[in-house]
Amino acid sequence: MNATPEAARAILRANDRGGYTVPTAGLYPYQWNWDSAFSALGWMTFDEPRAWRELTRLFEGQWPDGMVPHIVFHRWNGDYFPGPEVWRTRHDPPTSGITQPAVLATAVRRCWEGAKNRPLAKANAAALYPRLLAWHRWWAAARDPEQTGLVAMLHPWESGMDNSPAWDEAFARVRPEPVSAIRRTDTGHVDPSMRPSEDFYKRVIALVDLYAGLDWEPARLWRETPFKIADLAINSILHRANRDLLALAERFGSASERDEIAARLNLSAQAIERLWSGQAGIYYSFDLMAGESIPAATSAGFLPAWAGVARREQLAAMSKTLDRWRAALGYLVPSTSPEDARFEPRRYWRGPVWAVVNFMIGQGFAECGAVETAQCIRDDTAALISHAGFCEYFDPRNGEGLGGGDFSWTAAVALAWNLLGPAD
Ligand code: GLC
Repeated sequence: MNATPEAARAILRANDRGGYTVPTAGLYPYQWNWDSAFSALGWMTFDEPRAWRELTRLFEGQWPDGMVPHIVFHRWNGDYFPGPEVWRTRHDPPTSGITQPAVLATAVRRCWEGAKNRPLAKANAAALYPRLLAWHRWWAAARDPEQTGLVAMLHPWESGMDNSPAWDEAFARVRPEPVSAIRRTDTGHVDPSMRPSEDFYKRVIALVDLYAGLDWEPARLWRETPFKIADLAINSILHRANRDLLALAERFGSASERDEIAARLNLSAQAIERLWSGQAGIYYSFDLMAGESIPAATSAGFLPAWAGVARREQLAAMSKTLDRWRAALGYLVPSTSPEDARFEPRRYWRGPVWAVVNFMIGQGFAECGAVETAQCIRDDTAALISHAGFCEYFDPRNGEGLGGGDFSWTAAVALAWNLLGPAD
């Protein structure tokens, strides 16, 4: 496999549609929220103006209330399901009605700090800062109206880990009775055994129908949804993003904005701490409808290291958990524990390894001082990409590449994490 830096750059260039990068041609032909944050970090390694453009274009889809949608359909071609006619959000450009994990502020901070063209970086970061602040305020107001410190997702797609077994029980309470017709395009691109099931699609579209009927008004969604989860990935990533937003606020914000972000950080650090399971050696997400913790060990459970809130004992226990998983499988980090009966090594978020998640967990462990675990995760990611290429995800047992090929965020992470050795 020719996994060189030039090959990674060529993927980003080929997936460029005029200032935004599609995750992969065919399967995901529009701009996705957290994919773009990672793509920007990849672009930053060789084309700084293009990195800023990526971030700016995503904000073209931002809603007046601050929400940044998970998909922006800059030029709708009818080649994706669900498209704007199913979302019915009445935005221009058309967008979906839900959001995705908040990696953007982290990407903006990194681009700002790593920039060589200071005037360009200053102009862009200054313009993006208030938009990021508006998004983070939306998270706090719309998704944590009671100020608990944990924000909720109202749709499994918001986690970015669509069909994780962690949502199985809660999602079973959503009736699989969509009004909109289901016209899947994904299974025309990828083998159905590597994709979510039919039943999953019925339920995800049923939720979209419910929310479209409520005009996507946050307060109504909050009241009427049957699905409300405090997901660890979303909360850890947002906590990290608030730390990065605070750093940006030192330069671009006011004292009262800094106080506001710091207060939120205090609250979320304490709330994430409560999700730790000492017995399992990992953090668990929380089902807010059922009022109970979700005992599913998934890769999201290590992301408090990326947030920077995991303490030394917790890092040590998580490292042990990871060692066991690696011994059972071969490669870190499987999206679901191999000790879980629902583990499926080839199906999407139910087992395969995802390079972007490894990037966050690996860097999180490194920053917290757990360098051996960090190194192991980084080495495994490099090995997977150099053997199988820039695939969407990988089989944790033998490293086989799965899902879509020539994937932007896999290429971007390989560049940003410098996994591919010296430049060719
Ligand atoms: C899938 C993934 C999601 C990602 C999107 C585009 O839906 O689950 O995390 O953002 O594809 O790559």
